[in-house]
Amino acid sequence: MKPSRLTDCGNWVLDRFPLTKFWNEHMAHYYAPKNFNFFYFFGSLALLVLVIQIVTGILLTMNYKPDAKLAFDSVEYIMRDVPWGWLVRYMHSTGASAFFIVIYLHMFRGLIYGSFKHPRELIWIFGMLLFVALMAEAFMGYLLPWGQMSYWGAQVIISLFSAIPVIGDELSLWIRGDYVVADATLNRFFAFHVIAVPLVLIMLVFMHIIALHEVGSNNPDGVEIKESKDPWGHPVDGIPFHPYYTVKDIVGVAVFFLFFATVIFYMPEMGGYFLEHANFIPADPMKTPEHIAPVWYFTPFYSILRAIPDKFAGVIAMGGSIVVLFLLPWLDRCKVKSIRYRGGIFKKALLLFVISFIGLGYLGTQPVTPVATIFARLFTAIYFGFFMLMPIYTRWEKTKPVPKSLTKIHSLEEQLHTLEEQLPALLDEITELKPVDTEIGHPAFKSSFFTRRPNPEGMINVINRLAKKLKESLD
Ligand code: HEM
Repeated sequence: MKPSRLTDCGNWVLDRFPLTKFWNEHMAHYYAPKNFNFFYFFGSLALLVLVIQIVTGILLTMNYKPDAKLAFDSVEYIMRDVPWGWLVRYMHSTGASAFFIVIYLHMFRGLIYGSFKHPRELIWIFGMLLFVALMAEAFMGYLLPWGQMSYWGAQVIISLFSAIPVIGDELSLWIRGDYVVADATLNRFFAFHVIAVPLVLIMLVFMHIIALHEVGSNNPDGVEIKESKDPWGHPVDGIPFHPYYTVKDIVGVAVFFLFFATVIFYMPEMGGYFLEHANFIPADPMKTPEHIAPVWYFTPFYSILRAIPDKFAGVIAMGGSIVVLFLLPWLDRCKVKSIRYRGGIFKKALLLFVISFIGLGYLGTQPVTPVATIFARLFTAIYFGFFMLMPIYTRWEKTKPVPKSLTKIHSLEEQLHTLEEQLPALLDEITELKPVDTEIGHPAFKSSFFTRRPNPEGMINVINRLAKKLKESLD
């Protein structure tokens, strides 16, 4: 059959541009371990959220005004008058929090499966650079609505630079472009938020993935799949990323959209955590809000800053809490990667670290009290202790032997079959049937029907079982 014009056109491009080569190298012929679990959804979800933020960001820019006199009103205009503006704005504001939830889980996955260890140190470094760029992006974006919290949050954080000896005052003046946060600050933050930092983010994501595909993905067993290959040179424990994981990731995307849509349509402010209440009041340089708190994703680091009595030392500790994460590949001396084969000390240290991180996050949203300060100091000590003592406790801890090949993997059919059997039983356990007398309608037709009500006892049992399962999967 004679090739169609379209095929001819396609071939013309492919002869001049390596599209097929790129697709094969990174998708169809990229072999990923067979045993990825749900923690492996978060990388592709981070990519998805990045795309959502860029697309909604472009749409917002079409009606937003980066001018101190107009910014607040332009956001209100988007919310009230621009067709679908409210949806675009809520997608962008919820997207910011979703980005951090996804990234924190993505980083946690790296931590528990040792994905930062040799030979993946550079993937981790690019990841950390992404994390820093993401924090800068979120911080500058938060100034744009020009509400009270935008204004005073920026004022507090920029003034932290003045704690640096000798150059501090000049530096914070240089960042603001004025003696206080003002129109000049808004303009430069806008430029960074809409173009400079997104470009850096896209470039870093590209490098992150290229570095990953050079050495190959880690997995929940921490087994290097490249070490055992079949006669065709493909890893025995690997499957092509496309179509297997492209299809599997659709499940993650669907579940993500369920949560994302629920927040956008039913609780876009998330009780003041995603959009702070004080930010619905226009910025007023003459009136400081009673309680200045950053958005939830910054609060663990903000708590560390407040826990230290000296301002400069606090700034150093806050910076140090991020720098120390960059050093992780060299702090961990354990021979095995995955938590499944590590000793009890690491598991306990990790648990304490997670409690401290969440504790610091909570305390950062609360006003300072003497008791809160004691806890913040304790959690700060644990946070740093986890990293600083790591070279010691990871070197000496007892590990389990790592298998040569991946451990038993249930096929998709097996998993679906179990789910099909278990779901009705689960529903019966977490709910109870109660007869209800209906009052609606004519008394002659009054009848009773059954309705399902939540059963707290059953729910606690299910949560207990899930917690046990989670613990077992880590052992
Ligand atoms: C915009 C932010 C980010 C995006 C879009 C992104 C994307 C991805 C993707 C698509 C993967 C491959 C799929 C997967 O393993 O889940 C991946 C792997 C990885 N990422 Fe990220 N990432 C981001 C930020 C980070 C951060 C902040 C870190 C940690 C500091 C990090 C550390 C890693 C590591 C260690 C791997 C390899 C995991 C393994 O093979 O087990 N990433 N990332």
